[in-house]
Amino acid sequence: MTYGDVVELGRVLKRRSPVLLRAGVHTLITGVTGSGKGSIEANWLKSTVPGIHNGTVANWAVDLKGGMEFGMVDPEIIARHAWDITTALPMLKDLDAKVHARTEWARGRTRQIAPSEQFPRINLFIDEAAELCTAPTRELRKTTDEAVGYLDSIMRLSRAVGVVVIAATQDPRQQSVPLRPRFPQRVALRLNTEGESEMALGEEALKLGARPHRISVDRPGEAYFYDSELRVVQHFRALYVTDEELKHLSTNVAAKR
Ligand SMILES: Nc1ncnc2c1ncn2[C@@H]1O[C@H](COP(=O)(O)OP(=O)(O)O)[C@@H](O)[C@H]1O
Ligand SMILES: [Mg+2]
Repeated sequence: MTYGDVVELGRVLKRRSPVLLRAGVHTLITGVTGSGKGSIEANWLKSTVPGIHNGTVANWAVDLKGGMEFGMVDPEIIARHAWDITTALPMLKDLDAKVHARTEWARGRTRQIAPSEQFPRINLFIDEAAELCTAPTRELRKTTDEAVGYLDSIMRLSRAVGVVVIAATQDPRQQSVPLRPRFPQRVALRLNTEGESEMALGEEALKLGARPHRISVDRPGEAYFYDSELRVVQHFRALYVTDEELKHLSTNVAAKR
Protein backbone atom coordinates (compact mmCIF):
# COMPACT_ATOMS: atom_id res chain seq x y z
CA MET A 1 0.00 0.00 0.00
CA THR A 2 1.21 3.48 -0.75
CA TYR A 3 1.69 6.23 1.82
CA GLY A 4 -1.56 7.82 2.81
CA ASP A 5 -3.57 4.66 2.40
CA VAL A 6 -3.07 3.45 5.94
CA VAL A 7 -3.71 4.79 9.40
CA GLU A 8 -1.35 3.82 12.19
CA LEU A 9 -3.22 3.41 15.46
CA GLY A 10 -0.66 1.88 17.75
CA ARG A 11 1.51 -1.15 18.37
CA VAL A 12 0.64 -4.81 18.37
CA LEU A 13 1.17 -6.12 21.90
CA LYS A 14 4.01 -8.63 22.10
CA ARG A 15 5.41 -7.96 18.60
CA ARG A 16 5.55 -4.14 18.80
CA SER A 17 4.80 -3.93 15.08
CA PRO A 18 2.58 -1.05 13.95
CA VAL A 19 -1.17 -1.58 13.67
CA LEU A 20 -2.20 -0.30 10.27
CA LEU A 21 -5.81 0.20 9.23
CA ARG A 22 -6.95 0.82 5.68
CA ALA A 23 -7.70 4.54 5.50
CA GLY A 24 -10.41 4.13 2.87
CA VAL A 25 -12.59 1.63 4.74
CA HIS A 26 -15.54 2.36 7.07
CA THR A 27 -14.51 1.69 10.66
CA LEU A 28 -16.54 1.18 13.82
CA ILE A 29 -14.92 1.81 17.22
CA THR A 30 -16.64 0.33 20.28
CA GLY A 31 -15.67 0.57 23.94
CA VAL A 32 -17.09 1.52 27.33
CA THR A 33 -16.72 5.11 28.57
CA GLY A 34 -13.08 5.81 29.37
CA SER A 35 -11.77 2.86 27.35
CA GLY A 36 -9.94 5.11 24.88
CA LYS A 37 -12.25 5.65 21.90
CA GLY A 38 -11.11 9.26 21.82
CA SER A 39 -7.53 8.06 21.60
CA ILE A 40 -8.29 5.95 18.51
CA GLU A 41 -10.01 8.93 16.87
CA ALA A 42 -7.07 11.15 17.80
CA ASN A 43 -4.58 8.82 16.11
CA TRP A 44 -6.76 8.72 13.01
CA LEU A 45 -7.02 12.52 12.90
CA LYS A 46 -3.27 12.82 13.35
CA SER A 47 -2.70 10.61 10.33
CA THR A 48 -4.77 12.96 8.16
CA VAL A 49 -2.69 16.09 8.73
CA PRO A 50 -0.32 15.70 5.73
CA GLY A 51 -3.37 15.08 3.50
CA ILE A 52 -5.00 18.21 4.86
CA HIS A 53 -1.92 20.26 4.10
CA ASN A 54 -1.88 19.10 0.48
CA GLY A 55 -5.65 19.31 0.03
CA THR A 56 -6.36 15.62 -0.51
CA VAL A 57 -8.20 14.96 2.77
CA ALA A 58 -11.03 16.71 4.63
CA ASN A 59 -12.35 15.73 8.05
CA TRP A 60 -15.98 16.23 9.00
CA ALA A 61 -17.06 15.64 12.59
CA VAL A 62 -20.38 14.90 14.25
CA ASP A 63 -20.14 14.96 18.02
CA LEU A 64 -23.55 15.13 19.61
CA LYS A 65 -22.19 15.22 23.14
CA GLY A 66 -21.82 18.94 22.50
CA GLY A 67 -18.37 18.64 20.92
CA MET A 68 -16.80 17.04 24.01
CA GLU A 69 -14.37 15.01 21.90
CA PHE A 70 -13.92 16.99 18.69
CA GLY A 71 -14.21 20.43 20.27
CA MET A 72 -10.72 19.68 21.65
CA VAL A 73 -9.25 19.16 18.20
CA ASP A 74 -7.32 21.79 16.24
CA PRO A 75 -10.12 23.47 14.20
CA GLU A 76 -7.67 23.75 11.27
CA ILE A 77 -8.03 20.05 10.59
CA ILE A 78 -11.84 19.87 10.83
CA ALA A 79 -13.51 21.18 7.68
CA ARG A 80 -17.08 20.87 8.96
CA HIS A 81 -18.58 19.97 12.27
CA ALA A 82 -21.93 19.48 14.01
CA TRP A 83 -22.29 19.51 17.75
CA ASP A 84 -26.08 19.02 17.72
CA ILE A 85 -28.66 17.12 15.68
CA THR A 86 -30.05 20.28 14.07
CA THR A 87 -26.73 20.99 12.37
CA ALA A 88 -25.86 17.31 11.88
CA LEU A 89 -28.86 16.60 9.64
CA PRO A 90 -28.11 19.18 6.91
CA MET A 91 -24.46 18.14 7.05
CA LEU A 92 -25.35 14.50 6.40
CA LYS A 93 -27.71 15.60 3.64
CA ASP A 94 -24.88 17.57 1.98
CA LEU A 95 -22.52 14.64 2.27
CA ASP A 96 -25.11 12.32 0.74
CA ALA A 97 -25.50 14.75 -2.16
CA LYS A 98 -21.70 14.85 -2.59
CA VAL A 99 -21.50 11.06 -2.61
CA HIS A 100 -24.18 10.90 -5.30
CA ALA A 101 -22.52 13.63 -7.37
CA ARG A 102 -19.17 11.81 -7.18
CA THR A 103 -20.87 8.55 -8.15
CA GLU A 104 -22.35 10.28 -11.21
CA TRP A 105 -18.93 11.65 -12.11
CA ALA A 106 -17.24 8.26 -11.69
CA ARG A 107 -19.75 6.34 -13.80
CA GLY A 108 -17.99 5.12 -16.93
CA ARG A 109 -14.72 6.75 -15.79
CA THR A 110 -13.42 4.82 -12.80
CA ARG A 111 -14.43 2.21 -10.27
CA GLN A 112 -12.60 3.91 -7.43
CA ILE A 113 -11.96 7.63 -6.96
CA ALA A 114 -8.51 8.09 -5.43
CA PRO A 115 -8.03 11.05 -3.05
CA SER A 116 -7.01 14.18 -4.99
CA GLU A 117 -7.39 17.95 -4.73
CA GLN A 118 -10.44 17.67 -6.97
CA PHE A 119 -11.94 14.91 -4.83
CA PRO A 120 -10.39 14.97 -1.36
CA ARG A 121 -11.06 11.93 0.76
CA ILE A 122 -13.79 12.95 3.19
CA ASN A 123 -13.59 11.30 6.60
CA LEU A 124 -16.87 11.55 8.46
CA PHE A 125 -16.12 11.05 12.16
CA ILE A 126 -19.13 10.33 14.34
CA ASP A 127 -18.47 10.27 18.06
CA GLU A 128 -21.14 8.67 20.25
CA ALA A 129 -22.95 7.31 17.19
CA ALA A 130 -25.85 6.03 19.29
CA GLU A 131 -26.81 9.66 19.97
CA LEU A 132 -27.33 10.14 16.25
CA CYS A 133 -29.07 6.84 15.58
CA THR A 134 -31.45 6.43 18.53
CA ALA A 135 -34.14 8.82 19.72
CA PRO A 136 -34.46 9.62 23.43
CA THR A 137 -38.03 10.85 22.86
CA ARG A 138 -40.85 10.10 20.42
CA GLU A 139 -40.65 13.58 18.95
CA LEU A 140 -37.02 13.06 17.97
CA ARG A 141 -37.71 9.75 16.29
CA LYS A 142 -38.35 11.28 12.88
CA THR A 143 -35.06 13.19 13.05
CA THR A 144 -32.93 10.19 14.00
CA ASP A 145 -34.67 8.06 11.36
CA GLU A 146 -33.75 10.68 8.82
CA ALA A 147 -30.14 10.74 10.04
CA VAL A 148 -29.87 6.95 9.77
CA GLY A 149 -31.42 7.14 6.29
CA TYR A 150 -28.76 9.58 5.08
CA LEU A 151 -25.98 7.58 6.71
CA ASP A 152 -27.18 4.39 5.09
CA SER A 153 -27.32 6.06 1.71
CA ILE A 154 -23.84 7.57 2.23
CA MET A 155 -22.30 4.29 3.38
CA ARG A 156 -23.68 2.21 0.53
CA LEU A 157 -21.92 4.21 -2.17
CA SER A 158 -19.22 6.16 -0.44
CA ARG A 159 -16.27 3.81 -0.33
CA ALA A 160 -15.83 3.81 -4.09
CA VAL A 161 -15.93 7.60 -4.19
CA GLY A 162 -13.54 8.39 -1.36
CA VAL A 163 -15.90 9.06 1.53
CA VAL A 164 -15.17 7.13 4.72
CA VAL A 165 -17.19 6.84 7.93
CA ILE A 166 -15.38 6.39 11.24
CA ALA A 167 -17.92 5.98 14.04
CA ALA A 168 -17.43 5.47 17.77
CA THR A 169 -19.95 4.12 20.25
CA GLN A 170 -20.08 2.80 23.79
CA ASP A 171 -23.06 0.62 22.96
CA PRO A 172 -22.49 -2.20 20.48
CA ARG A 173 -26.16 -3.19 20.15
CA GLN A 174 -27.79 -3.12 16.74
CA GLN A 175 -30.44 -0.62 17.83
CA SER A 176 -27.72 1.87 18.75
CA VAL A 177 -25.74 1.33 15.58
CA PRO A 178 -28.27 0.06 13.04
CA LEU A 179 -25.66 0.29 10.28
CA ARG A 180 -23.17 -1.96 12.08
CA PRO A 181 -22.95 -4.45 9.19
CA ARG A 182 -21.72 -1.68 6.90
CA PHE A 183 -18.39 -1.37 8.78
CA PRO A 184 -15.78 -3.85 7.49
CA GLN A 185 -13.13 -2.65 9.95
CA ARG A 186 -13.84 -2.82 13.69
CA VAL A 187 -11.91 -1.71 16.72
CA ALA A 188 -13.09 -2.91 20.13
CA LEU A 189 -11.62 -1.40 23.28
CA ARG A 190 -12.71 -2.61 26.71
CA LEU A 191 -16.23 -4.04 26.78
CA ASN A 192 -18.37 -5.48 29.58
CA THR A 193 -19.26 -8.95 28.38
CA GLU A 194 -18.43 -11.58 25.79
CA GLY A 195 -21.84 -10.86 24.27
CA GLU A 196 -20.87 -7.23 23.74
CA SER A 197 -17.57 -8.31 22.17
CA GLU A 198 -19.45 -10.52 19.76
CA MET A 199 -21.84 -7.69 18.86
CA ALA A 200 -18.98 -5.26 18.38
CA LEU A 201 -16.67 -7.44 16.32
CA GLY A 202 -18.70 -10.42 15.15
CA GLU A 203 -18.40 -14.11 15.95
CA GLU A 204 -15.53 -14.67 13.54
CA ALA A 205 -13.28 -12.20 15.40
CA LEU A 206 -13.81 -14.05 18.68
CA LYS A 207 -12.91 -17.32 16.97
CA LEU A 208 -9.72 -15.65 15.81
CA GLY A 209 -8.86 -14.73 19.42
CA ALA A 210 -10.38 -11.31 20.09
CA ARG A 211 -11.26 -10.80 23.81
CA PRO A 212 -12.19 -7.14 24.40
CA HIS A 213 -14.20 -8.10 27.51
CA ARG A 214 -10.99 -9.33 29.15
CA ILE A 215 -9.18 -6.01 28.81
CA SER A 216 -8.35 -4.58 32.20
CA VAL A 217 -9.90 -1.30 33.36
CA ASP A 218 -6.44 0.15 33.99
CA ARG A 219 -5.43 -0.29 30.36
CA PRO A 220 -7.22 2.44 28.41
CA GLY A 221 -6.20 2.43 24.77
CA GLU A 222 -5.79 -1.35 24.70
CA ALA A 223 -7.95 -2.84 21.95
CA TYR A 224 -8.58 -5.49 19.34
CA PHE A 225 -8.67 -4.66 15.67
CA TYR A 226 -10.61 -6.88 13.31
CA ASP A 227 -10.70 -6.56 9.54
CA SER A 228 -13.63 -8.66 8.37
CA GLU A 229 -12.51 -8.56 4.74
CA LEU A 230 -8.90 -9.56 5.37
CA ARG A 231 -9.97 -11.76 8.32
CA VAL A 232 -7.22 -10.48 10.59
CA VAL A 233 -7.32 -9.86 14.35
CA GLN A 234 -4.67 -7.77 16.10
CA HIS A 235 -4.36 -7.09 19.82
CA PHE A 236 -2.80 -3.68 20.32
CA ARG A 237 -2.39 -0.56 22.40
CA ALA A 238 -3.18 2.81 20.88
CA LEU A 239 -0.46 5.44 20.84
CA TYR A 240 -1.25 8.12 23.37
CA VAL A 241 -2.08 11.53 21.92
CA THR A 242 -2.16 14.33 24.50
CA ASP A 243 -4.83 17.06 24.51
CA GLU A 244 -2.09 19.62 23.89
CA GLU A 245 -0.97 17.76 20.77
CA LEU A 246 -4.57 17.48 19.52
CA LYS A 247 -5.10 21.22 19.91
CA HIS A 248 -2.09 22.01 17.75
CA LEU A 249 -2.05 19.13 15.29
CA SER A 250 -1.67 21.12 12.09
CA THR A 251 1.12 23.38 13.37
CA ASN A 252 3.04 20.53 15.01
CA VAL A 253 3.07 18.48 11.84
CA ALA A 254 3.83 21.49 9.63
CA ALA A 255 6.77 22.37 11.89
CA LYS A 256 8.23 18.87 11.60
CA ARG A 257 8.34 18.94 7.81
N1 LIG B 1 -3.58 4.92 24.28
C1 LIG B 1 -3.68 5.29 25.56
N2 LIG B 1 -2.66 5.10 26.41
C2 LIG B 1 -2.75 5.50 27.69
N3 LIG B 1 -3.83 6.08 28.23
C3 LIG B 1 -4.88 6.29 27.45
C4 LIG B 1 -4.86 5.91 26.07
N4 LIG B 1 -6.06 6.23 25.54
C5 LIG B 1 -6.78 6.80 26.51
N5 LIG B 1 -6.09 6.84 27.68
C6 LIG B 1 -6.57 7.40 28.97
O1 LIG B 1 -7.93 7.03 29.17
C7 LIG B 1 -8.75 8.17 29.35
C8 LIG B 1 -10.08 7.98 28.62
O2 LIG B 1 -9.85 7.92 27.25
P1 LIG B 1 -10.90 8.45 26.18
O3 LIG B 1 -10.25 8.37 24.86
O4 LIG B 1 -11.44 9.79 26.58
O5 LIG B 1 -12.05 7.36 26.34
P2 LIG B 1 -13.52 7.30 25.70
O6 LIG B 1 -13.55 8.25 24.54
O7 LIG B 1 -13.68 5.89 25.30
O8 LIG B 1 -14.46 7.68 26.80
C9 LIG B 1 -7.94 9.35 28.82
O9 LIG B 1 -8.18 10.53 29.51
C10 LIG B 1 -6.52 8.91 28.96
O10 LIG B 1 -6.00 9.34 30.20
MG1 LIG C 1 -15.00 9.78 24.07
